[in-house]
Amino acid sequence: MKIAVIGTGYVGLVTAVCLAHWGHEVTCVETDTEKLSILRAGRSPIFEKGVEELMQSCAEKLAYTDDCGEACRGAQAAFICVGTPEREDGFANLKQVFAVAKQIAASARGDCVCVVKSTVPIGTNRKLERLFFSEAGKGVTIEVASNPEFLSQGTAVRDFLFGPRVVIGVESAHCGEILRSIYAGYQGQVIVTDRQTAEMIKYASNDFLALKISYINEIANLCEIVGADVETVARGMGADSRIGKNFLRAGIGYGGSCFPKDTKALHWLAKYYDYEIKTIKAAIEVNENQKIRLIKKARRYYQNLEGLSVAVLGLTFKPDTDDLRDAPSLQNIAVLLQEGADVRVWDPSGYERIKRLYPHQITCCGTIGEAIQDAHLCLILTEWEQIRNFDPAGYAQHMKRPVVIDGRNCYSPAAVQGAGIVYDSVGRPRVLPENWADQTGRVLYLPVDPRKTAPDFHTFHEA
Ligand SMILES: NC(=O)c1ccc[n+]([C@@H]2O[C@H](COP(=O)([O-])OP(=O)(O)OC[C@H]3O[C@@H](n4cnc5c(N)ncnc54)[C@H](O)[C@@H]3O)[C@@H](O)[C@H]2O)c1
Repeated sequence: MKIAVIGTGYVGLVTAVCLAHWGHEVTCVETDTEKLSILRAGRSPIFEKGVEELMQSCAEKLAYTDDCGEACRGAQAAFICVGTPEREDGFANLKQVFAVAKQIAASARGDCVCVVKSTVPIGTNRKLERLFFSEAGKGVTIEVASNPEFLSQGTAVRDFLFGPRVVIGVESAHCGEILRSIYAGYQGQVIVTDRQTAEMIKYASNDFLALKISYINEIANLCEIVGADVETVARGMGADSRIGKNFLRAGIGYGGSCFPKDTKALHWLAKYYDYEIKTIKAAIEVNENQKIRLIKKARRYYQNLEGLSVAVLGLTFKPDTDDLRDAPSLQNIAVLLQEGADVRVWDPSGYERIKRLYPHQITCCGTIGEAIQDAHLCLILTEWEQIRNFDPAGYAQHMKRPVVIDGRNCYSPAAVQGAGIVYDSVGRPRVLPENWADQTGRVLYLPVDPRKTAPDFHTFHEA
């Protein structure tokens, strides 16, 4: 089938290459000229396993353009894959979606289906259909199908090709048939429903996962207070198939381009209909607090952060992606700089965006060792494999004060025992070197001003 895919970000490009892999002829539309020239050179502008390989193996089935009209003319289906970022009030910003819809309406010369892959609030597909009804050319019918995407960055190609379900929201049998033939290469469960339900499945799924993360994070915080180990708690919970073991990893909260905005969008939508979705409201609040929990923890060791050298390991919201959107690192770095810390970062996916945000204020390092050299504090924010494989004893060797606060539980407490570092992770017992606690077990404060040489240690009562 001849298909146009509009927007070649994480969802659009993965959709395009996977559809081409299933034998469709796909024209990708991208307005970002830099991305377009990378695509035309046969390379992937996004850091996503398997995408570039599929781009190359399906090269004869893929074309790239910035002209939506050219892509849509003669296409039987046009996929909308543009961003739906958060508006200031929390609602989804649908400007890009409607702008693309107008272009499709203006350029379609024959009947086609507009497939909405972007995550859009419930009711949007219906509004788009009204737009097509009034703006499409004479004699041209553009039907709208909701086809939300559930891929995860880092495993996007596998998720698209072999995910547990494909959801199709349609209002006519004809439209359903077209969608089924697009997905003929997919072997899993296809759920065909109406458009409102399909739109809701997407939000209900993402928000449930966000809720699960916030739930385990709260349990982790309580584990720290009562002296339990959240990882064993999660294992115990996850062994029950009614609960499931996924998304029970405690940490410093969710980020990325989906969970933060999709939780807020559903909360806003419910409010619009005069309904309060209390569970999601709580998930959002818990996540906001969780993101800066490491900095609160740092105050167990330093009264203030001014003048401290702080290493930040990991910038992306999760490993195996280059995506920094809504990553906890952004909030943490902002607070560290505001408090006068000297920030040195390490991340393997590149520094392009962070350098745009902070061209002079932070130091981007080539290795973990370089980032932690002479640091007073190290915050681990992403569970990159390179960090998990870094020898815990290396912190003691490189750092001025080996205080490591791990927001992703990259090491087991047993692995850091004897490494000579303070290791404070999420929801698990803290590991301290022998000389870091007094006889009563209270942690010794570090000098208020790290530039001071006087050994002014104080005992510290934790709240
Ligand atoms: N990223 C994910 O993991 C994920 C997963 C599931 C669903 N979604 C949803 O999919 C949608 C897209 O997300 P994304 O992460 O791929 O976004 P993205 O920002 O990575 O990509 C969007 C792309 O669309 C391009 N674009 C914008 N306007 C355009 C236009 N008029 N014509 C052509 N191209 C245009 C942009 O330049 C950009 O490359 C969002 O609604 C998101 O919520 C994302």
